[in-house]
Amino acid sequence: MRDVISEKMGISSGSIHKLLYIEEHQPDLLKLIDDGDMSINGAYKETKRQMNIISLSEYVYERKKNVPLNIENLNIYNKTSEDMSEVGNASVQTIVTSPPYYNKRTYGVDGQIGWESSIEEHLERLMTVMSECKRVLKENGSLFLVIGDSYDENGSLRQIPNRLSTRMADDGWILRNTLIWYKTNAKPENGRIKRWGTSYEYIFFFVRSMDYSFDMDKIRVPYTTEPTRHAPRHHKTNTSTFMNQQTNLQHPLGRVPRDFIEDDVIKTSFNQKEKFVPDENLEHGATFPEKLIRPFILATSKENDLVLDPFIGSGTTAKVSLENGRTCVGYEISPVFVDTSYQRCGQVKVIRI
Ligand SMILES: C[S@@+](CC[C@H](N)C(=O)[O-])C[C@H]1O[C@@H](n2cnc3c(N)ncnc32)[C@H](O)[C@@H]1O
Repeated sequence: MRDVISEKMGISSGSIHKLLYIEEHQPDLLKLIDDGDMSINGAYKETKRQMNIISLSEYVYERKKNVPLNIENLNIYNKTSEDMSEVGNASVQTIVTSPPYYNKRTYGVDGQIGWESSIEEHLERLMTVMSECKRVLKENGSLFLVIGDSYDENGSLRQIPNRLSTRMADDGWILRNTLIWYKTNAKPENGRIKRWGTSYEYIFFFVRSMDYSFDMDKIRVPYTTEPTRHAPRHHKTNTSTFMNQQTNLQHPLGRVPRDFIEDDVIKTSFNQKEKFVPDENLEHGATFPEKLIRPFILATSKENDLVLDPFIGSGTTAKVSLENGRTCVGYEISPVFVDTSYQRCGQVKVIRI
């Protein structure tokens, strides 16, 4: 029967099966397919992922016995980060985080941020977390906020990153950079969309005061061009002093990194060897790469400093912090991801550079 329909409609029977599954479990995605904002395959995968998460949260999650819940220098609280009263005032040096995006994916837990009935309510909840961040951050501390946007039902970008960063600036945060994280392997878009494909997210670099700690030498990158060894023709070239001056135009440790960062999107939560997935099909799906955030932690904190991630997810911030001799505190509403993070950090060794 499906084959007959498929022939009449001119789409494969596999696609019909996928569309029926999407219609049953996540009918909202059908509109995105119709508008060309999502492919049938993409919507099917997203629906399957959501169903896995929901089914997982529906039964009482039994903690795995092998999960190390006591890791030195790491504390993760399984609760909303709107209240971080476990963390003292002005005790954190660096905050690195990525909040859940509005109406994008569900983590299947009551109280999760991202599914409020309006953008206003969503921003208010994020601002509650940000004001807790402000309370716990040292006067010379830094905050890195990785955040992407989403489209509303009229096809317009919601502009949540801009709205949030403006509110934060109004609340006294100093915005030092808007870094662009260009995802070199961003998801291909449906060929029928009438706009450019999405391939980047913002990273807002905020501080509380201009006295913030920052060690550029920890994050310099190699120069792409050779130092100028030849003086321009209109200069005298017969003195070695002049030659030295020209060569020294380049810093011996490398140049200042630029605000446009190219990096892969992580396909799975973390690499195969460390992989801890309570349900085979469950992946976090919204992690940031370790390589992306390492420079943030290295430049703005020192060994033994405390790093916070109020939305710790699969524990990327925790892993990079511990590897670099920092201590880490995190908040995560899903008990599954709390365990994932602890499991991921169980084998961490401090890397001395
Ligand atoms: C974008 S993900 C963070 C991913 C993380 N950066 C990583 O690399 O794995 C956002 C996380 O926030 C969690 N979350 C949602 N609402 C929360 C809340 N109210 N308090 C704390 N965590 C929350 C979600 O469960 C999800 O794991």
